[in-house]
Amino acid sequence: MIDQFADLVRKSRSRRRYVAADPIPREVLLSLVDLARLVPSAMNAQPLRYRVVSDPAEVAEVFLATNWAGGLRTGPAPAPEERATAWIVICSQNPPFPPGIDVGIAAQTINLAANAAGYATCMLGAIDRPRIAKALNLPADVNIELLMAVGRAGEKVQLEELSPDTPTPYWRTEDNVHHVAKRKLEDILL
Ligand SMILES: Cc1cc2nc3c(=O)[nH]c(=O)nc-3n(C[C@H](O)[C@H](O)[C@H](O)COP(=O)(O)O)c2cc1C
Repeated sequence: MIDQFADLVRKSRSRRRYVAADPIPREVLLSLVDLARLVPSAMNAQPLRYRVVSDPAEVAEVFLATNWAGGLRTGPAPAPEERATAWIVICSQNPPFPPGIDVGIAAQTINLAANAAGYATCMLGAIDRPRIAKALNLPADVNIELLMAVGRAGEKVQLEELSPDTPTPYWRTEDNVHHVAKRKLEDILL
């Protein structure tokens, strides 16, 4: 059981290229948010709200507000046929205290659930929030906390070990594989 869960955690990598021809059904997106509804929340205040974006015109509009539009740090921006087919916009509304930890718990739950269902995600914080709020006509008292790209994975990602001489924490090789390096257990124990 723990092995199955470990495999899910290992494979649930951020993907930045998707299969645009294979969109994630809206009911699957809603089932992801339905799970996020159940996760821990400080004082059970549950300040998070979600906009599920699956309409192709809206999906394209939100893409323009991501830093992918200007190119990935590890290579060119995804071509139209490699773009995410949906977004989940994690928002907060009148949070009684900073909602960041709630957001992280919800986001990783969505990521794991999406991967368990055969899809993939990427959390995006470097986004043009006013542009997304306008494109989606979000209410004025709603704060965009984090954007999640969702779709069928269109790239391979390989886990690596982060050592003192690893030049960058992630990189792409000529075979178009994205490598992501993680610190070793002995390096994170205090
Ligand atoms: C809060 C947060 C914000 C992020 N923002 C971006 C982003 O704007 N653009 C991007 O390409 N990746 C973004 N990422 C994804 C990270 O780059 C990614 O988690 C990291 O490279 C490690 O890869 P992994 O998720 O496969 O472990 C973000 C991740 C988190 C947790």
